[in-house]
Amino acid sequence: MATELITLAGHEQVVFCTDPDTGLRAIIALHDTALGPGLGGTRFHPYASMDQALADVLRLSRAMTSKNAVAGLDHGGGKGVILGDPNRDKTPELLRAYGRFVESLGGRYVTACDVGTYVADMDVVGESTRWATGRSPERGGAGDSSVLTAYGVFQGMRAAAQHVWGEPTLAGRRVGIAGVGKVGRRLTDQLLEDGAQVVVTDVNPDAVRDLVARHPSVCALNDVDDLVREELDVYSPNALGGALDEVTVDLLRARIVCGGANNQLVSEGHGGTAERLRERGITYAPDFLVNAGGVIQVSDELHGFDMERARRRTATIFDHTLEVLRSADAEDVTPAVAADRLAERRIAAGGPRPWLPAGEHRDT
Ligand SMILES: NC(=O)c1ccc[n+]([C@@H]2O[C@H](COP(=O)([O-])OP(=O)(O)OC[C@H]3O[C@@H](n4cnc5c(N)ncnc54)[C@H](O)[C@@H]3O)[C@@H](O)[C@H]2O)c1
Repeated sequence: MATELITLAGHEQVVFCTDPDTGLRAIIALHDTALGPGLGGTRFHPYASMDQALADVLRLSRAMTSKNAVAGLDHGGGKGVILGDPNRDKTPELLRAYGRFVESLGGRYVTACDVGTYVADMDVVGESTRWATGRSPERGGAGDSSVLTAYGVFQGMRAAAQHVWGEPTLAGRRVGIAGVGKVGRRLTDQLLEDGAQVVVTDVNPDAVRDLVARHPSVCALNDVDDLVREELDVYSPNALGGALDEVTVDLLRARIVCGGANNQLVSEGHGGTAERLRERGITYAPDFLVNAGGVIQVSDELHGFDMERARRRTATIFDHTLEVLRSADAEDVTPAVAADRLAERRIAAGGPRPWLPAGEHRDT
């Protein structure tokens, strides 16, 4: 089962890591390093089995190859998963053991935060490897990546507005935000500043209460079902994956979908949700394109973190989104396909695989 999965997905390298002393069980997957070292976060999750963890890390690392390529980063796709309950099994010793496995790859894999891992965890992982990003500013890190994730989503949304309405602004538009956690609430700040009306929903009532206390003009709805049915110009998923299924797409009244959540399309590829959106005349700004600000932020850490440099780079999400939406129209394909093609072109122009750290290339 394992070898079949790996071969099918075309991964360069998959490393199974175990450390009996700390109970660590982890997998690191490098999908494609044509553009440079694999970069992607580490997910800490109570997987039901090793096979389930493997399937997840293969899928996630592959998605990072595309995300890093369209973001214009010199990084390939990589991802790590640690098997276990982060609330019960996460210890400093286990994180340091994981860091040693990351270090053992000599810089071919660069890690960061993901679901179940936080800035403080990357500080600990970083005690045993040079290749941990998303650390705290006190340790020279980039800190909370949602800052530039939200900024990038805002840039993607401005580009979609330019494409659809001819103006790169959300002023006077009604934007619905599903999920006002770290990304959604920062996005709300920027939209309000731009002059948009914002409608939100979140399963966590505290998150909504805090936001409305800060911004009394924000309107809160009961749940995502209500938000989807609302008269909106833009719908922005910023909670969990799988936000766009067929039912949701059929109910949507917005002209644009653009949000930070990962893996929004429930059904990918031919006949999938992206095509349904297109049939309904809804412009979809691909998630992995517009939410790349976070990975841009943490990648900057490898060069001595500079927030302004990372912000300038994230601002290019505006141009990339516009380019993708225009080429989707020109090539008569969905924006998801156009973004994949952009990634493929960049990867095809990359170097030989596997990428090796400087000074370790060998001519044979
Ligand atoms: N933080 C980043 O840098 C980053 C980068 C890229 C992608 N993303 C993606 O963006 C999304 C949001 O990330 P985040 O860091 O803000 O996470 P978060 O956990 O801070 O916020 C998510 C919010 O969504 C809410 N939520 C969960 N289920 C919901 C539902 N069914 N309906 C309404 N609200 C619901 C939660 O209560 C929470 O407030 C995730 O999909 C994440 O994978 C985040």
